[in-house]
Formats: sequence, C-alpha cells, structure tokens
Amino acid sequence: MVVELDRLTKVFRDFWLRPVVKAVDGLSLSIGKGEVFGLLGPNGSGKSTTVKMLLGLLSPTSGRVSVFGGSPRSVAVKARIGYLPELSHLHPFLTARECVAYYAGLSGLPRGEARERTRQLLEMTALSGAADRPVSGFSKGMARRVGLAAALVGRPELLVMDEPTSGLDPVGTRDVKTLVRLLAGSGVTVLMTSHLLADVADVCDRVAIMSHGALAASGKVADLLAKTDAMQLDLPGAGPETAAEIAKELSARIGAPVTARRPSVSLESYFLSTVSRDAPEFRLAPFLQK
Ligand SMILES: Nc1ncnc2c1ncn2[C@@H]1O[C@H](COP(=O)(O)OP(=O)(O)O)[C@@H](O)[C@H]1O
Ligand SMILES: [Mg+2]
Repeated sequence: MVVELDRLTKVFRDFWLRPVVKAVDGLSLSIGKGEVFGLLGPNGSGKSTTVKMLLGLLSPTSGRVSVFGGSPRSVAVKARIGYLPELSHLHPFLTARECVAYYAGLSGLPRGEARERTRQLLEMTALSGAADRPVSGFSKGMARRVGLAAALVGRPELLVMDEPTSGLDPVGTRDVKTLVRLLAGSGVTVLMTSHLLADVADVCDRVAIMSHGALAASGKVADLLAKTDAMQLDLPGAGPETAAEIAKELSARIGAPVTARRPSVSLESYFLSTVSRDAPEFRLAPFLQK
C-alpha cells in the first residue's frame, strides 16, 4: 500500500481552542501502487484538508496517516511525493523553463542534471515549443502543465494533485487526464481531488466520495455507476425500425417493456471532436530515462 488513512480526523479550533469545524471525520482508505485514485466531494467536504494531512503539512487531530509505510513528515517519505497544489503561483515574468528549473534547483539536483531534468519534463508536458516564453502569456491549461512539470521534478512515486482540472476548459482537462494516465502507466501512483465528477470518472481506477468530512461511498467508478437490475444490448448497424421490431420480440419474451434508443457519446468527446484541437504530443520517454 502506498497510502493508508486510518480513521483520520481533523477538527479545526478557534483562537480559544473551541472546536469549530470537523473538516475530516474518521476517514479510512488505502491506495495501492500504480493506482489512480480520485477523492471526490463538493466544496468544503474536506478534500484539501485530507491532502494536507497526507503530505504532512497539517497534523491530524486523531487517526493515522501512513505513506510508503512511514510518516509523511519524514524527509525520506517526502522525497518520494510530488504535489501539485490547487493554485501554483508561477512567477509571471519567468519562462516555463525558468519556473521548472527553479524547482529542479530547489530539489538539490546538480546544475547539469537540473537542466537536463527540466528539458525532459518540458518535453514530456509538450511545452518545449513554449519553454522560453514568459508564463504570463500562457493559457490556464499550459500553466497547469508547468505546475505539473514542477511537481515531477523529484521523480515522485506518488503524485498528489489538488483539483488539477479546476478552472480548465475541456481541452486543458483532457490534457491533464492524458498526462495522468501516462504517468500511471509508468507506475506512478496518483491521488487527485475534484469536485467535478466527470473530470475524474474516466481517469481514476477507484474513487472515494466525501461528504462533510466523511466517506460517503467508494469503489471502482464502473461499479459505482453500474445499474445492477438491467442489461443493455448494442445493435451495431441497426436502424430505428429494426430496433423497434427486436424490442417488441424481446419485450414479449421477458414480459417487460424493452426500450430502444440511440447510444450517445459523452458531451465531452463530442465537444473535443467539434473543436478538433489536436492533442499536444506528451512524451513520457524522456522523463523515464535515468
Ligand atoms: N485552516 C482552517 N481553519 C478553519 N477551518 C478550515 C481550515 N481549512 C479548512 N477549513 C474548513 O474545513 C472544511 C473542509 O475544507 P477543505 O478541506 O478545504 O474542503 P475541500 O477541499 O473539499 O473544498 C471547510 O468547512 C473549511 O471551511
Ligand atoms: Mg479544496
């Protein structure tokens, strides 16, 4: 297990130490290696507070957090975690390369290696072409990719992203999801939070839904969404008349009304094919070179 939360609780207190908000309430969950895990919930449900405890930035009121079998406060554990905060403050006058290089320098890499790691990360996030432009002129999607490149500077085994798709248009969201999938494919464990369900549904292996700090549901996305009391059939190439005929026959056979309807694509994929903006070419290979 990469992450284990055991009855994690956080109570924020006011100046007189009176409990004010129970932000996280007895949350238990575990995330395995290579999993993409989504923490979902409306605003104020305790996602960011959970993330901060998991990163060792906040201490739990009670309960236990273990990351890579140790405390997230230990330096050895921290070195294996990458964090993309909800808002990354990129200095507007710096170029994408300078931003990432700054974090590479902070991580203690020798200069030559820092420069090489920066180049690999910019290539991976498809920012090489824009690397020497100031980030003030970047779209939100590009700026988020700079933040992501910075979070990956230490080659983390666990990547924690707080609302990585918030404020992005569907194109930017698709790009973040593509990168998450690429990273997961290379063995990186990912924990991401979101209040936008559609943004995580097709990228996460498992999700947990939080409500008022507690776990309301958890499981595989497909299992959570599947209806267990019916089945659906696909009729490739069929027109409305054929479908109506078959529906009638089936209806007689099972003794219940059978409905025929056209399958639809998600609004997201329709939108993406309509605006037909080519996906940037993300390349994991340079990042994986040691
Ligand atoms: N530092 C803090 N002091 C007091 N209350 C806080 C603090 N941080 C968060 N909260 C409260 O805890 C609850 C959960 O917040 P948060 O974890 O940010 O939710 P989410 O990320 O799901 O939107 C909210 O009611 C919020 O107001
Ligand atoms: Mg939050």
